[in-house]
Amino acid sequence: MKDIDEVSITQAVLAANRSGNPRLVKIMESLVKHLHEFAREVELTEEEWHQGIRFLTETGQMCDDKRQEFILLSDTLGLSTLVTALNNRKPPGCTEATVFGPFYVEDSPVVENGGDIANGARGIPCFVSGTVRGLGGEPVAGAEVAVWQSDDEGFYDVQRAGLDHLQGRGRVRTDATGAFHFRSILAVPYPIPYDGPVGRMLQALERHPWRPAHLHFKIEAESYERLITHIFRSDGPYLDSDAVFGVRSTLVSNWTSHPAGIAPDGSELDQPYYTLHHDFVLNRC
Ligand code: BEZ
Ligand code: FE
Repeated sequence: MKDIDEVSITQAVLAANRSGNPRLVKIMESLVKHLHEFAREVELTEEEWHQGIRFLTETGQMCDDKRQEFILLSDTLGLSTLVTALNNRKPPGCTEATVFGPFYVEDSPVVENGGDIANGARGIPCFVSGTVRGLGGEPVAGAEVAVWQSDDEGFYDVQRAGLDHLQGRGRVRTDATGAFHFRSILAVPYPIPYDGPVGRMLQALERHPWRPAHLHFKIEAESYERLITHIFRSDGPYLDSDAVFGVRSTLVSNWTSHPAGIAPDGSELDQPYYTLHHDFVLNRC
């Protein structure tokens, strides 16, 4: 294999790649073709190539078990939303999926219905209720509803250095009627972490890092497809300019504000609070 030029390089790489795994062959073939075509299309300079390598190196160096800079890169390039869309085609009537994000934690606290998932996270009280049903309207009993959210300063617990317990996340189960409810705090808009290479990329592209206020849900039940989604606040900014392109209009919900008084759980609150009710519909496997 000699005298490879700017055209024949693509075929040369494809011919060199071999594997008994047909899926790997397909993915690498397409990746190499598109990567080469991209370089040809923009006439990539050597300086730009170096800059790209430096950017990816810094992105990797920024990653640890708490900071997922590559996920942020995928999110801000729209790749996460594209992959979510490709893998979550559902019949009309099902709750739509959206991006997972980097702040999910396995094995978050199990909370009884009515319990407080804020667990010390600061914010305006918010009482969340909902149901989980199948497309035929049947209640899904025993579904695990995992929830996670930021505090009133826009930080997830995993972003708080020195915090020794989980906050603003938990798992409840639906009852026999498919219903669940819990206490938490009001979701607020927040910027995705922007003190790294992805933040510099956003700045260079004149983009802001903000996400509209939302609550994350992961709902799992036997015989139904897993649902990973958010519910967004209809009364906040950035619904039309989410930094990670995750908003679906069917996921925007009204969060109702209430004056101080008796809360849905019967407690007396001396400050205003919010309520949110949302009904989720799962697709059968
Ligand atoms: C989130 O909503 O938690 C999130 C999603 C994408 C990037 C950063 C954060
Ligand atoms: Fe989030």
